[in-house]
Amino acid sequence: MTAGDAVRAEPVEVLAQAGRRRSFAVISHPDAGKSTLTEALALHARVISEAGAVHGKAGRRGVTSDWMEMERARGISITSAALQFGYRDAVINLLDTPGHADFSEDTYRVLSAVDSAVMLLDAAKGLEPQTLKLFDVCRYRGIPVITFINKWDRPGRDALDLCDELSDRIGLQPMPLTWPVGTAGHLRGVLDLTEGDFIRYLPSTAGAGAAPEERRDARQAEAEAGGDWHRALEESELLRASGGEFAAARFADATATPVLFGSAVRNFGVRQLLDLLVDLAPRPAPRIDTGGAARELDAPFSAFVFKVQTGMDPSHRDQVAFARVCSGMFERGMVVTNSTTGRPFATKYAQQVFGQQRSTLDTAYPGDVIGLVNATALRVGDTLHAGRPAVRFPGLPSFAPAHFAVARPADLGRAKQFRKGVEQLGAEGVVQVLRSDRRGDAAPVLAAVGPMQFEVATHRMSSEFGSPVRLEHLPYNAIRRLADPRQRAVVDSGRRSEVLTRDDGAELALFAEEIDLRLMLRGHPELVLEPLVAEGG
Ligand code: G4P
Repeated sequence: MTAGDAVRAEPVEVLAQAGRRRSFAVISHPDAGKSTLTEALALHARVISEAGAVHGKAGRRGVTSDWMEMERARGISITSAALQFGYRDAVINLLDTPGHADFSEDTYRVLSAVDSAVMLLDAAKGLEPQTLKLFDVCRYRGIPVITFINKWDRPGRDALDLCDELSDRIGLQPMPLTWPVGTAGHLRGVLDLTEGDFIRYLPSTAGAGAAPEERRDARQAEAEAGGDWHRALEESELLRASGGEFAAARFADATATPVLFGSAVRNFGVRQLLDLLVDLAPRPAPRIDTGGAARELDAPFSAFVFKVQTGMDPSHRDQVAFARVCSGMFERGMVVTNSTTGRPFATKYAQQVFGQQRSTLDTAYPGDVIGLVNATALRVGDTLHAGRPAVRFPGLPSFAPAHFAVARPADLGRAKQFRKGVEQLGAEGVVQVLRSDRRGDAAPVLAAVGPMQFEVATHRMSSEFGSPVRLEHLPYNAIRRLADPRQRAVVDSGRRSEVLTRDDGAELALFAEEIDLRLMLRGHPELVLEPLVAEGG
């Protein structure tokens, strides 16, 4: 089969399969319980037999990758995983996002590949900085958000107070679907606002299995939970009267958020979350290409690469490109075209990857994520497609970097490894790589949104590419995009400014301080400098 042969599954089949997909990511501040919730979700769907098999977090089973030493030491998740499991008649794709603010660019890319997000809050803390930042990305992209208020098994804030915070601070109308009965720390269960039932909380051993839940009707609830039950009825009524009545359309247009209460570690409330995803979360929709046309779901196969990662498995040191299917059916082995380069690309080694586990993937449909192993030719933002004409989806915008450092090989004898490593880290988007003729090829400038990206880069340069690097930080604090490359010499003539070219071709004008930028504009009013987009930043 060649790149020109369109593999076209029966459109009816593709549409039916796409309709079963729910692809989402969890956004949260570190420690809110994202890994625990991921495990609990998978546990409910019974794809893993023991909690802890998904993420290689500290002390948990499944820690096998040595380049993740940093993750372990810090207890943060740097790598992303795509977990697929079946629940009822649906196929759930859960895309993991890194929890640390320094990797917001990475998260942004993951959020470009989902149809909805679950905002996970710690009941004792409410909205935290990283949650807010990630929520901004969802808002920017119009991604519908479900809110899950976690850790209800231990003391925390008042439910009404937490809901008010959603409307006051981020302008998102909370629409509770359940309401806690009993205060945080003294949880007796939740009121199911759709059915009017009481779902009793039966504390289970953490991680032991899907929590048994007992349903009681309102009369029994009153007898069992008396005052707490009444308070729950009153409070939820209060919220519903002030605009919190559930409306699917407002969830879909991302102006309001369904809210659930629960405890991930106790597996309580997790099933309601799964049901909500299946019943109400958006299914894959046609994606808009660079020409503004919608790529219908049943058009021939197309996908875009939203993440590239190397060294996930230390025994292989391989590179995996993650692509989200946008249309058609994917069949392993099909030869597709990379529309960025126009070159054919063979998909013999397609896999499903999550955590340390991998399995061969034979077919995939819109909404699914395919891991393409050893896809060294693929870069973040590339579009893959079958058949003709070519299709290209808009590339993923880069964040405005805030930290800059010149990288040099510590050992000059390893210049080749150095070049290869820097190129690879740039292709993966671990850091942005900037160059100029003035600095030359041997001294590229690494740019990052957060300084921890530099740590990952230096760690990988020595451990993976065998070329330790020395970084010299550059004191640039103002950055613009140079609209006309012919004006480069003007900026380069400044003592405290220079122009560097980013991998995507953007010409970045860097100034030590805002004042330097202003002085230059005063001296050269003809200079056209544009602000850089910093989505979610
Ligand atoms: P993250 O991925 O968002 O960073 O959070 P993670 O799941 O690792 O959870 C952070 C801590 O919060 C963990 O405790 C976890 O057990 C706890 N946690 C998660 N969900 C709940 C919940 O519903 N109730 C309570 N009480 N705790 C919860 P840890 O002590 O840091 O780690 P561990 O040794 O328990 O794994």
